[in-house]
Amino acid sequence: MTTFNPMRNLPGPAGYGQGDVFVLFGELFGRGYANGLVDEARRAGMTVIGITVGRRETDGSLRPLTEDELVESEKVLGGKIINIPLEAGFDMDRSASGIAPVDQLKGIKTDGWETAVLDWDAIEQSRKAGIDRFSGNLTKVMDAIDALIPDGVNVLFSHTMAGGIPRARILMPILNRVFKGQGERFTPSEVFWGTDLGKLCSASFDEVTANTFQHLIDFSRPIRERIESAGNKVAYTAYGYHGCEVLIGEVYTWQSYAPYLQGWAKMRLEEVATAAWEQGVRATVFNCPEIQTNSSALFLGVEISLYPLLKALRKEGGGACLERITAACNELLKEGITVETLLADADRYLADALLKPFHEYSSWPHHNNPEQSALMLTSATSMLDMNKDSKNIVCAELSRAVFQAVGRLMNRTSWEPGAPVFWLNHDIVARELVAGE
Ligand SMILES: NC(=O)c1ccc[n+]([C@@H]2O[C@H](COP(=O)([O-])OP(=O)(O)OC[C@H]3O[C@@H](n4cnc5c(N)ncnc54)[C@H](O)[C@@H]3O)[C@@H](O)[C@H]2O)c1
Repeated sequence: MTTFNPMRNLPGPAGYGQGDVFVLFGELFGRGYANGLVDEARRAGMTVIGITVGRRETDGSLRPLTEDELVESEKVLGGKIINIPLEAGFDMDRSASGIAPVDQLKGIKTDGWETAVLDWDAIEQSRKAGIDRFSGNLTKVMDAIDALIPDGVNVLFSHTMAGGIPRARILMPILNRVFKGQGERFTPSEVFWGTDLGKLCSASFDEVTANTFQHLIDFSRPIRERIESAGNKVAYTAYGYHGCEVLIGEVYTWQSYAPYLQGWAKMRLEEVATAAWEQGVRATVFNCPEIQTNSSALFLGVEISLYPLLKALRKEGGGACLERITAACNELLKEGITVETLLADADRYLADALLKPFHEYSSWPHHNNPEQSALMLTSATSMLDMNKDSKNIVCAELSRAVFQAVGRLMNRTSWEPGAPVFWLNHDIVARELVAGE
């Protein structure tokens, strides 16, 4: 396992400027982490290039974006999108006999899934077919990107891909039991992870979340060699998660959301960066704080660790930034509730004796248990209920602050990266926010 390597000092300035190129390897969603990096790239005057994962037709086939979708996506990104589908994973890729993993899942019932047996030969064929499809398209995407990058500029590739839950109807009720179930309706994540369905998810997460970073590094080699041979820089960043230090009481303490089933894939992502680094490639995984995005929506409770960012802002100097964010948060809370109420509840939860085993770095990723899960879900629900409007919540305000600070930290660090894996904990995020106001 990677040695815990928290970033403790704010990075120096980056030298990116007009004409340098920023390539986003993943799609951009309104509240996603990538917004922070895209904003930084724009601010530096970099040329922004994006990709698409494509879209699935109702018959299951993968297609590029339509003209309208492309125009809309390019407007959101503020740059050209190479319109060749780069969906990773293999859940809908067919084996030699024409069966995709999602087809195998179709016959499984909610009362027999624990003992369901999948055809692993067929799954392995699908996995290979998925990699072939992805690699074939990636070759074309990289050719197109190569043609858009002139000589004599610096290039920053930013990997944001994560996911891979197979798109089969049976999985949603099961995952809801694992992530959101209580009492009779709870299934421990370890039970799920040990079944064939869990194993399929694990293989799929590896492909989407980790192996795509390897493919990005491999397939962009010609661009890297061309740019570096002229004395310019090529760097790669990826978003990781491997727990995060937040203030519990007055002490920054490493903690993690459980059950983070993507954790094994995220460790693999760190290994990809470390191996590339050893070959002289400037690839860095930035393990980031928990925030609320489209991708984290399933994980009710992940956002509780975000609240103490307000305490970190106080500890790291406060000032105008703390005042602005606190005022914005107070505005979103119900009559009679302040951020102090929220912070006291979050601290009570994070300091609960039940969570002690979940503060152990060496045994990560942790599976959940009924007591911890119930505590997390009831605490999360009561804190979310403090917001006036469930569609406009404190977590959104704090998430935005985090992804902006993280984008700035990643952009600047990528100029002189220093290591293949960093943790951006609440201390450095708060200091960046305070310094940037
Ligand atoms: N949200 C958090 O709390 C958190 C914490 C630490 C790290 N991260 C990481 O940040 C990155 C961005 O995630 P986010 O939370 O901002 O959510 P997001 O939903 O905005 O981004 C998810 C990204 O994954 C891509 N993606 C999804 N399925 C894919 C597939 N099958 N093939 C290729 N690409 C696919 C999407 O295009 C998108 O770029 C991810 O690597 C995520 O693991 C998130």
